[in-house]
Amino acid sequence: MAEDLKVTNGTKAEQYISLIPQIKGLIDGEPDLIANLANIAGALKEQFNWFWVGFYLVKEDQLVLGPFQGPIACTRIRKGKGVCGASWEQAQTLIVPDVEAFPGHIACSSLSRSEIVVPIIRDGVVKGVLDVDSEHLAQFDETDQLYLEQIVALISM
Ligand code: SME
Repeated sequence: MAEDLKVTNGTKAEQYISLIPQIKGLIDGEPDLIANLANIAGALKEQFNWFWVGFYLVKEDQLVLGPFQGPIACTRIRKGKGVCGASWEQAQTLIVPDVEAFPGHIACSSLSRSEIVVPIIRDGVVKGVLDVDSEHLAQFDETDQLYLEQIVALISM
């Protein structure tokens, strides 16, 4: 595994294209889910310096906070609640340009202004979500969706 992450400049797509093989290198051969989620959150934070990036894992009827980078966050989210719970229920990526305009958004931090949530789906079942928050409005778009979906596809769970 690489000792240091190579953080790159360039377009957002170029940054993801440089980052994804490094994430693959970080998690290849490591079977521990929590270790891998922790390193993915760390790598994304280091490359993009987003306000908050992390995982929630499905445990029974709730999403429970997993490895993350950023300020402390809500620990449990019910299915259908907030952006994370909606992404779980709908089993699809949700891009929210303005969290205040999203009915039921859960404000773990008042500084968060926009958000993307990507479900981790295995055999048609949502196992967890990757949640990214920004303190800027409309931070996320289809480019983030494309590459973040590729990143969650690398996770074995
Ligand atoms: N805003 C999320 C809750 C999780 S935090 O942002 C880390 C939501 O509405 O589901």
